[in-house]
Amino acid sequence: MTTKIIKIDQNNIDKTAISEASELLKEGKLVVFPTETVYGIGANALDNEAILNIYKAKGRPSDNPLIVHIANIKDVYKYVKFVPDIALKLMERFWPGPLTLIFEKSSIISNSITGGLNTVAVRLPANKIARELIKASDLPIAAPSANISGKPSPTRAKHVIEDLNGLVDMIIDGGNSEIGLESTVLDITGKIPIILRPGGITKEMLEKEIGQVKTDAALLKEKKDVAPKSPGMKYKHYAPKGILTIVFGEDNKAIDFINKSILEKEAKGIKVGVISTYEDRNMFTCQNVETIGSITNEEEIASNLFAILRLMDEKEVEYIFTRAFSENNIGLATMNRLLKASGNHRVYL
Ligand code: TXA
Ligand code: MG
Repeated sequence: MTTKIIKIDQNNIDKTAISEASELLKEGKLVVFPTETVYGIGANALDNEAILNIYKAKGRPSDNPLIVHIANIKDVYKYVKFVPDIALKLMERFWPGPLTLIFEKSSIISNSITGGLNTVAVRLPANKIARELIKASDLPIAAPSANISGKPSPTRAKHVIEDLNGLVDMIIDGGNSEIGLESTVLDITGKIPIILRPGGITKEMLEKEIGQVKTDAALLKEKKDVAPKSPGMKYKHYAPKGILTIVFGEDNKAIDFINKSILEKEAKGIKVGVISTYEDRNMFTCQNVETIGSITNEEEIASNLFAILRLMDEKEVEYIFTRAFSENNIGLATMNRLLKASGNHRVYL
């Protein structure tokens, strides 16, 4: 299939381009569009064949459900059985934005999108291109991250083109994703809401609005053997081709360990890469040091993580070392993705 690639400027939206893309969605085609978190592969959430084609294009297991994207809060009522009071507060405060809510599904949502679950994930994205596109299509849009299953999510149009050129009908290049990590997924179907995937909307931010919020036990680092509640979290994910090691420890110890490892590997002719903050970047004795952001700026680190993991692949790096980053604010989500990307491969000093 030929993929049409078009550019749209979020600050000066070309309505003709949006209308062309929305016509494709109405015809059951696949359109990749930018969101503030990561790029998504969009299709009509009410069209089973289109949904099947999303799974095919991504190579995604069919038991991993998709998020339904809407453009107006009132549309949520069409796709869920009922809207709990807690959801009203959350939608009012955090939508549009990087928060996905899990509701009991209405009968119009088919099992093909929920992986057979009786719940549905709904999100109202903040990106203007995404919202204009959803509005113009006048449809609920199913959209998983626009990467081949298992690879880091795409935060630049070039990542999408690498993975999906020839596999989707259209790719909208809307520039770099602002946040760079996928939305927070919050299950509100039980008594106490549970975070199934950490993201830009943190536990503290949620608790300020609605009181107690739990985190799925499978996400806590010390609990390795608990099955996650969100199907997507059980798969190997975000992985670069090289072997990634996360080093926890004080400045000198961590830097010495990484430098020693670099020497050992390079002596054997192995290509090594380091992911570093600006503050540390001159401390490493390695050719391939990629800077992810400032140690004090969790948002900057989050927004560059997936791009750097992909860059390491481009450079064909075989071993990647990084120090652990701050877990404050969105840092918790960054460390969640980094741990998954490493297959939980970490060293404590
Ligand atoms: O930021 C995002 O959420 C991006 C952009 C494109 O909106 N989308 C995204 O979709 O990350 P995806 O499909 O890559 O991840 C959706 C996650 C998966 O972990 C999936 O298992 C979980 O949400 N999920 C979806 N529906 C669910 C449900 N009914 N119950 C539990 N988890 C669900
Ligand atoms: Mg994904």
